[in-house]
Amino acid sequence: MAIRLGDEAPNFTAETTEGTVDLYDYLGDGWGMLFSHPKDFTPVCTTELGAFARRKGEFDERNVKLIGVSVDPLDSHEGWAKDIAETQGAELNFPLIADPDRKVADLYDMIHPNANDTMTVRSVFIIGPDKKVKLIITYPASTGRNVDELLRVIDSLQLTAGYQVATPVNWNDGDDVIITAAVSDEDAKEKFPKGWTAVKPYLRVTPQPNK
Ligand code: BEZ
Repeated sequence: MAIRLGDEAPNFTAETTEGTVDLYDYLGDGWGMLFSHPKDFTPVCTTELGAFARRKGEFDERNVKLIGVSVDPLDSHEGWAKDIAETQGAELNFPLIADPDRKVADLYDMIHPNANDTMTVRSVFIIGPDKKVKLIITYPASTGRNVDELLRVIDSLQLTAGYQVATPVNWNDGDDVIITAAVSDEDAKEKFPKGWTAVKPYLRVTPQPNK
């Protein structure tokens, strides 16, 4: 069955380029980003894995562990990792799951038969410290992901997990945010001491509370 936002992220144990990994043990109390690749030795995936590796520090700063999956076997991943290191300016520095029996791909519904019968789409699952799925994005094989956008949505998820705010269109860390409807004006005085601008009664804009 398809995984929806708010569902518990299914746990699994899998072979990876960093040994056997139990997802929950690997994530510990932090956040996680599980992402799939259609196939090894493919050009877009090679650039994505290189970019994730180069910018892993920015995920670390946010307490987000990276873990990728591709439905090819471990020896194939090991050969591909050499190409990634050679061409992308960074070595793989997070586990890449070998999933030849499609255990993880099926568990997370990463194969979309109308797109392709055998390859996973480019799924992204952001998992919270409570092991609930906080965000799902699906790209077709032909479109590479955007690291800036992934970091941006992680910033939004982490901010909105801690404060009763929502982030508006094109928001980036540090920009003003929106006070949610659940907060009365009376409560907002205490929760948002920097004040707010009521553009409309339902659109109250306040400086980012944790800055
Ligand atoms: C790629 O990663 O380049 C790719 C993978 C599958 C289909 C098309 C492109």
